[in-house]
Amino acid sequence: MIKKMKTIFVRNYEEMSEKGYEIIKDVIETKEQPVISMTTGGSPRGLFTLLVEGVNNGLDISNTVMMNLDEYIGPKNAVYTVNTFMYENFYNKINTQPKEIFLINGEADNKEEEINRYKEVLNAYPRDVQVLGLGTNGHIGANEPGTPFDSTIFLAEHDDSTIESTMREYNIERDEAPTEMITLGFTEILEAEKVILLVSGKRKSEAVKNLLEGEVSTDCPATALRDKDNVIVIIDEEAASLLDEKTKNRGK
Ligand code: PGA
Repeated sequence: MIKKMKTIFVRNYEEMSEKGYEIIKDVIETKEQPVISMTTGGSPRGLFTLLVEGVNNGLDISNTVMMNLDEYIGPKNAVYTVNTFMYENFYNKINTQPKEIFLINGEADNKEEEINRYKEVLNAYPRDVQVLGLGTNGHIGANEPGTPFDSTIFLAEHDDSTIESTMREYNIERDEAPTEMITLGFTEILEAEKVILLVSGKRKSEAVKNLLEGEVSTDCPATALRDKDNVIVIIDEEAASLLDEKTKNRGK
């Protein structure tokens, strides 16, 4: 049998968030010690809103271990950091806390040591779920175009389009925007039992076309996920707008 990622086509951002939430909720309710690795940014905001509602209405996360895909290099409390995002959008809004919270320290002086520390976390806690967003240039985490498909957690430099996305998402000027990140590589991303890629909006449509119809190539990092049957891509109508009809029908 050909191994292949699964695609789910939905109408809009709200439906994308709901589908993502359903999958995570099911894992939290069925695993003994669920390990969920999240991403931040515009794509998962709606999913976080649903998770907050879920937890505050009784979804039990007391045995859940939470962690993240990446972290910007910069002061921990800067407006754009993963740390700030996770507290503002999740940890500060829920009425019970997860069993464990792990975050990469983007202000660590010694990046190598920090990478090694996080590697130990990853080894100790195999992920049930890894949530991802898709860059307009096809990046996954900070695995930018050109990154080898066997990458492991590393200190990455952002492409210009990624810096622009960060500026847009957090309403900051170029001189305030971070240019580097510690990110999981494809190796650790794909180790998760389920990998959920959330894609919404017109500005992602070209990356979606490359992901589903282009060549598998490091030019479009997301194509590293193409043949993996543990990957679920949830795509809304605007993001799917450049796809051939037959590609969309395959997802049904
Ligand atoms: P976004 O970013 O979710 O803010 O659109 C995704 C990404 O660039 O990885």
